[in-house]
Amino acid sequence: MNVLANDGISQSGIDALEKAGYNVSTTTVAQEQLINYINEKDISVLLVRSATTVRKDLIDACPNLKIIGRGGVGMDNIDVEYAREKGLHVINTPAASSHSVAELVFGHLYGLARFLHNANREMPLEGDSNFKGLKKAYAKGTELKGKTLGVLGFGRIGQATAKVALGAGMKVIAFDPFLEKANLELEFFDGQKVNFDIETISKEDVLKQADFITLHVPAQKDYVIDEAEFNMMKDGVILANAARGGVVNEVALVKAIESGKVARAALDVFEKEPKPEIQLLMNPSLSLTPHTGAATNEAQDRIGTELASQIVSILG
Ligand SMILES: NC(=O)c1ccc[n+]([C@@H]2O[C@H](COP(=O)([O-])OP(=O)(O)OC[C@H]3O[C@@H](n4cnc5c(N)ncnc54)[C@H](O)[C@@H]3O)[C@@H](O)[C@H]2O)c1
Repeated sequence: MNVLANDGISQSGIDALEKAGYNVSTTTVAQEQLINYINEKDISVLLVRSATTVRKDLIDACPNLKIIGRGGVGMDNIDVEYAREKGLHVINTPAASSHSVAELVFGHLYGLARFLHNANREMPLEGDSNFKGLKKAYAKGTELKGKTLGVLGFGRIGQATAKVALGAGMKVIAFDPFLEKANLELEFFDGQKVNFDIETISKEDVLKQADFITLHVPAQKDYVIDEAEFNMMKDGVILANAARGGVVNEVALVKAIESGKVARAALDVFEKEPKPEIQLLMNPSLSLTPHTGAATNEAQDRIGTELASQIVSILG
């Protein structure tokens, strides 16, 4: 059987599929040529990440397709319900990248707390002529230890981020309208484990108490953080959004930075991808990454092998 991994797949995933007797193609076929390619090459399994879209027209035009697989979590690029109505299996790998996203958030938070995002921009320009000036500019850093992290959305990634925070010595508070409490198991290198119960509290309390706020909610109709929410936050809060563009109102964020309500913020996701607003890209108070939360070798390996094992268990 033929598998097309149109947005790529890890070598570990290819190996697992080939071992089970599948042919795997990693050619990136242009969106408008995809239907022809799938039919001509008799593709049974189409694997995508976020770049390729799988809409009704493709599902209708490719009757031999059996599985649509998304390496990662969000399936906004696939007409999932429609595909399932037509008898296709739609699979994803929801847990594979949680820890990678959590670590990216912490990369940003540690960086923002010590102005690394600015120092890395300015040292190449002024590091020799204005060393002392830069040293003074970045003198008021803060530690994360002992500070309060507010987690909005306490699912897989929210909980993974909370674990990293607990390991870093932070207090963790969380809001999730669909979850009352969670038990977090922190595993250490030598097999020791610590269990931690966290009860969620109201959104307002999280916003009021947190020194650092991180969002891990799914895409939704309304902003989760808009002007009213910014107004409830502590002055000088640091915010991170590695969830989805559109859960934070970017215009309200820039205003909150200008007023000093938000000291600094990190964005891995943007309302306009792949062309974020220039006001964000040029803003010195922002630490920016191009949607790379899940982009680690470890996460890609887990995504590949998880997809392979699901395909094998469905198709044999
Ligand atoms: N940056 C990246 O590269 C990257 C990678 C993977 C996933 N993500 C995104 O991260 C987000 C979280 O993923 P996950 O796997 O943890 O999902 P999840 O479904 O496990 O958790 C999401 C949680 O948010 C809660 N929630 C829903 N609406 C809420 C609201 N308004 N306020 C507070 N909580 C709310 C849900 O009850 C759920 O517990 C998703 O948006 C996903 O697309 C980003």
